Amino acid sequence: MLLIPAAGSGTRLAAGVPKAFVPLAGRSLLAHAVEGAVRSGVIDAIVIAAPSSLVEDARRIAETAAEAPAGSADDADDPDGSGAHSVPVSGSAPVSGSASVPISVVVGGADRVVSVAAALAVVPEADLVLVHDAARCLTPASVYHRVVAALAEGAAAVVPVLPMTDTVKTATDAGTVVGDLDRTALRRVQTPQGFVRDVLVAAHDLQRTDPDASATDDAGLVERLDIAVVGVPGDEAALKITHPIDLRIAELYVTGDLD
Ligand code: CTP
Ligand code: MG
Repeated sequence: MLLIPAAGSGTRLAAGVPKAFVPLAGRSLLAHAVEGAVRSGVIDAIVIAAPSSLVEDARRIAETAAEAPAGSADDADDPDGSGAHSVPVSGSAPVSGSASVPISVVVGGADRVVSVAAALAVVPEADLVLVHDAARCLTPASVYHRVVAALAEGAAAVVPVLPMTDTVKTATDAGTVVGDLDRTALRRVQTPQGFVRDVLVAAHDLQRTDPDASATDDAGLVERLDIAVVGVPGDEAALKITHPIDLRIAELYVTGDLD
């Protein structure tokens, strides 16, 4: 089971339409995200949170994208496309990438947490739930496989992570730099993030009752439950398309000029 929060407005991308509906090499980010999820072979159902005015568009885009063929040439962990590292995310057999992946679309909320909660609320029976930003629409199958493999090994919460490359400093509100953070202890966090369903539900329940404590991702909500979050290697191709430059980099990935 995969939740795709896709209800953001894309303010920083400023492309004139909500970000998930912005074209990337001729197809929307949402289409790329759904196709990538289906191609991973480890997703058996998808719930999308969309802007209220675009629910039907999201459904049509996603159902078309879900018909994409299975197999993933970009999966270094799984070069023969056999999905050897994968396990089914909700207990049934892994799908082989076809329209058999059912798509549901719900209306998202005012922020990402609310959108994920809206999607989570309609999840039927599922032991494991992955949450994946539409904005990380080029995530390779290998990342899905690593997340699902860690869940299969018993983790309750899993996030793909990458090391920091920049030097990171703390600063005052006035802009004075006051100190270094230890870069070796820092990670950049990506999606899909994977959870035992009951853990994710409990994390969102806590958020509803104590909304003051903010977290910008689902793993952050789970950390508040004192549940260990396991990191697995992410991938630079899973970049979050945030600013116009990110869309240009993503185009290079799609056209094969950045392999
Ligand atoms: N998202 C969502 N509901 C919201 C806000 C965000 O479902 N109310 C989703 C976005 O569609 C995106 C993911 O959460 O797939 C990550 O959010 P972000 O990259 O910040 O996207 P936007 O909020 O659309 O962009 P911006 O912050 O620039 O407006
Ligand atoms: Mg946002």
